This record gives sequence, C-alpha cells and structure tokens, in this order.
Amino acid sequence: MIAPSILSADFARLAAEVDAVTGADWVHVDVMDGHFVPNLTIGLPVVESLRRATDLPLDCHLMIDDPDRWAVGYAEAGAHNVTVHVEAAADPVKLAARLRAAGALAGLSIKPGTPIEPYLELLRHFDTLLVMSVEPGFGGQRFMPEVLDKVRVARRHVDAGHLRLLIEIDGGINEDTIVAAAEAGVDCFVAGSAVYGADDPAAAVAALRARAEAASALTPTAATASAAAATVFQRPGGAADERGDRPR
Ligand code: DX5
Ligand code: ZN
Repeated sequence: MIAPSILSADFARLAAEVDAVTGADWVHVDVMDGHFVPNLTIGLPVVESLRRATDLPLDCHLMIDDPDRWAVGYAEAGAHNVTVHVEAAADPVKLAARLRAAGALAGLSIKPGTPIEPYLELLRHFDTLLVMSVEPGFGGQRFMPEVLDKVRVARRHVDAGHLRLLIEIDGGINEDTIVAAAEAGVDCFVAGSAVYGADDPAAAVAALRARAEAASALTPTAATASAAAATVFQRPGGAADERGDRPR
C-alpha cells in the first residue's frame, strides 16, 4: 500500500493535489501542533473539507500533544485511520477503544528513538503501527535505516499471530529506501517529497508500488503478510464491518 503525504503538496490546491494521486491507497495527512513537534500544519477543519473532496481513505497522523483530547474528533470527521504518538498519549489503550468506537482504525506511532518492546502488549489494542523513519516534524529528511529493526520485530509478532497490525513506515521513503523497508515487512509506505516532488505524482506512486512489490516478492513472508493486510485493512467493509462500524 502507498500513502502519499500531502505535507509536500500545495496546500492552496489540496483537492487537486489529492486528485493527482488517485492510484494511491490512502492519503496521509500530517497534523502538527507546534508543540509535540516544532512545526505547525493543518487541523480538523481541513480534514473535514478533505473528507468531502476525495473518496480515498484519510490516514491522519497526529503529531500533537494531548491526543487523548483531540484524536477522536478526527475519527468523527471520517478519517479511516487515526494515528497518535505513544510519546504523547496518556492512556493509549482507552484512546484506541474510543477511536474504534468512533468508526476509525486506531494507529500508534513511535519516534525513531522510541523502542518497540515496551509497547508490544499495548499494540494488541491497535490496528496500525506507524514506525517513524525520520524525526517527526518535517518532510524531505533522510531515511533512518536503523528503525527497520523495529519493523522486523513487529512483523515477527504479526506473522506469529501475536499481533494483528498493519505496519506503516513514514519518513524518507523513495524508490531506493522503499526496497529495504519492504524487505523488512512494511505493509504501507508513506511518501511525501518522493510523490509530490515528482513531475507526475501518479507515476511516482506507481513506481514506488512496483519497487515495493518487487522487493516483497523476494521475501515471501512479507509478500504474504502484506497481501493479507491489504485485504483486512484496505477494503471498506472488512475489519470495520466485523466490528459493526461503518465502512469508510
Ligand atoms: C514527517 C511526516 C511525514 C512526511 C514525510 O513528520 O510525518 O509524513 O510528510 O515526508 P517525506 O516522505 O518527504 O520524508
Ligand atoms: Zn506522517
């Protein structure tokens, strides 16, 4: 799965920019509050407008303080997946339940310096894991390959049936770095500058997908798991319907 990040899009033309990546699986929306990260982007009103402007599922990545207070609003606004940072959430398990009750998938993100082991048990309550491969806050940074060890740990737990998670990676993904990420077992690749910095964003999405699929094909576990994850998490009416939530 490919999720272009509109952080690198032209904010004055957002609807058109989202239209430009219609081959994508999800649209990644970076919400920053100028506190949890030293940058300020967009918030709930823009997500509400985007929801009306596209049929693509919105993947909201909240880089904000106090997500326990704000995150459910994004689920209520129609986000498909709402990801909060473990470094910011006071009660992640309760928050995940509230996000699911509001009809969204619940996502947990970990910064590059945050280990995954202390949170493996907690991840049983989440649908998606967003492994940051740059320090959150800005697009266009260099990929940090050392975070792939965390992807491998998560992949092993998913493949063993201990966790049921879609594994995302975010930061510095391009046609080169996506190969190692796919081999490590990532299901969903967020890419900002590699998509919106390209002359043809739709072609960039297709090229990223081709590279990821080729790499996964050489690592059968990742390929099988990724296909299963796409079925469970991508199709409207899949996991959400099983929980009685409305598809989105
Ligand atoms: C960074 C954001 C990313 C960003 C990725 O804090 O969470 O989603 O848009 O941009 P690239 O792909 O350019 O690293
Ligand atoms: Zn992001």
